[in-house]
Amino acid sequence: MNQQPVIEFDHVTKCFGQNTVIPDLSFTIKQGELVTILGSSGSGKTTTLKMINGLITPTSGTVKINSQPLADHNQVDLRRHIGYVVQQIALFPHMSIRDNIAVTPKLLKWAPTEIDKRVNELLDLVQLPSQDYANRWPNELSGGQQQRVGLARALAANPDLVLFDEPLGALDALTRLDLQKEIKQLHTSFLGDKTFFFVTHDLNEALFLGQRVMVMKAGQIEQFATPQEIVQHPASGFVEELLATEERNQELWRKLQ
Ligand SMILES: Nc1ncnc2c1ncn2[C@@H]1O[C@H](COP(=O)(O)OP(=O)(O)O)[C@@H](O)[C@H]1O
Ligand SMILES: [Mg+2]
Repeated sequence: MNQQPVIEFDHVTKCFGQNTVIPDLSFTIKQGELVTILGSSGSGKTTTLKMINGLITPTSGTVKINSQPLADHNQVDLRRHIGYVVQQIALFPHMSIRDNIAVTPKLLKWAPTEIDKRVNELLDLVQLPSQDYANRWPNELSGGQQQRVGLARALAANPDLVLFDEPLGALDALTRLDLQKEIKQLHTSFLGDKTFFFVTHDLNEALFLGQRVMVMKAGQIEQFATPQEIVQHPASGFVEELLATEERNQELWRKLQ
């Protein structure tokens, strides 16, 4: 596996007015990794993700993508080459599923036959057979199916890096588990080529999906390690508390059985 750094944060800070959201953040993510960020609401997860695709600019410090400072990249170009999947994916309501997925390839001026081929391939990949789904409208799909389209759209131009911001947060438990498995399989199927950076506030989701998990509290890393290391050797009281929430769930189950 190629071990080139894909994302590097070097003493990054972010303040909104008087509010310091990210006090001092440094980390490196290498090509082919699937990393999850786990943190409570307001801990700075979305802010961190948006500093990677240039939607938010750091107050100080450096973000590098593929060893090049973000500021040196062409921003529009960069955004087209980084996949982005969010909770409210907002498909264009007056475009067919096919056209929704084709947005970036069209911007990149791919040939129409190439776009058609890619859309069909992507719909199959996210298990929405193209003959049934390509010509539907977004409002004819369930929430889970819309998230699958969002995933297909993010992968359309074959990005090396895909950012996920709580994409499964609004789905029911069973659909959520299905999609977790599929995202993990998808990442494996790329054989270490594609880097996935996945934000969640759900402990089990973070531990199941992540090859490494970045536990974040108030814009700071509490622990950045494999799921096994985190469970076996929580690095702080905060991480211990997080893990204890799961133990309380298990206790409830034991009582009910
Ligand atoms: N554009 C903004 N302007 C002012 N404050 C913001 C802005 N975006 C986020 N914040 C604040 O930054 C903090 C972290 O937000 P966010 O990164 O969205 O957290 P998370 O995604 O972990 O829930 C919150 O206190 C939020 O209110
Ligand atoms: Mg968020």
